[in-house]
Amino acid sequence: MAPLPIIIDCDPGQDDAVALLLALASPELEVLGITTVHGNVPLAVNAANARALVEFAGWPELPVFAGSDRPLRRPGIHAVRVHGPSGLQGFDLPPARRPVEPRHAVEVLVETLRTRNDVTLCALGPLTNLAEAFTWAPEIVKRVRRIVLMGGASKGGNVTPVAEFNIHADPEAAALVFAAGAPITMFGLDVTHKALVNAEHCRGFRAAGKRGAAASGWCDFPDRYNPMRYGAVGLPLHDPCVIAWLIDPTLFAGKECFVAVETESPLTLGQTVVDWWGRLGEKPNATVIERIDAEGFFKLLSERLARLG
Ligand code: RIB
Ligand code: CA
Repeated sequence: MAPLPIIIDCDPGQDDAVALLLALASPELEVLGITTVHGNVPLAVNAANARALVEFAGWPELPVFAGSDRPLRRPGIHAVRVHGPSGLQGFDLPPARRPVEPRHAVEVLVETLRTRNDVTLCALGPLTNLAEAFTWAPEIVKRVRRIVLMGGASKGGNVTPVAEFNIHADPEAAALVFAAGAPITMFGLDVTHKALVNAEHCRGFRAAGKRGAAASGWCDFPDRYNPMRYGAVGLPLHDPCVIAWLIDPTLFAGKECFVAVETESPLTLGQTVVDWWGRLGEKPNATVIERIDAEGFFKLLSERLARLG
């Protein structure tokens, strides 16, 4: 089968970085480019991280574009406490030799989707770039092959009791994307909190080579583990779930649901309301993934990291 053309929109962040390595190691995927968005750390930092990452992975010609540096309508939030000031605490990448591309990521998304209708958008951060592209050029929505996103939660958030970071960071953008009409596959905390990377997995990553050692560092630095936090020993490896599904969807299972995003209530801002039982009678707008073969996922990740060496 021909490789699947994808664009990865991200905010590296350690788990974004592992997801990028997985994608670049996988011949099933054709990574057309990387777009970056405000999120875990400020845009300038995460764009530089993405640039350094593609060179570290052995893809120096892959273009990286910087996008929106703030949410549509609210002040930005970051997760420096989780990711460290560099956004990649745990392993320091060699600095990039090439700069980020001069063109804005939203312009690149619009132009790409105007010229081809076979692209899958992998959204690993706040959805601001996608929302701005859909607002600028509504005609591209029907040309998107699929949006596969890490975001949301139906059983408890990681920023507030109900909101997950990527959605909470720009609720208006998320609401627009979920309502736009493009096919969506949603990886929320319901499934990513079952992809808990532990010290044994990290030992396997380190044995894979220098890229695996980087992944291990990003998953294993001392204060990342908090057994009490997620009810089990390990760290949720959120973003790589999106890429793993594209490579082997049999590792996951989910359900077609209607999903809406709260944009008003201060208490529940950024909550993804997942209508599991169709109470609202609305047409489903997302495949909500809730199950994972976690050991199969980590086996795939280790094997692909070894391919990069
Ligand atoms: O809530 C987890 C998500 O927020 C991940 O994408 C992580 O990288 C952060 O962006
Ligand atoms: Ca991310």
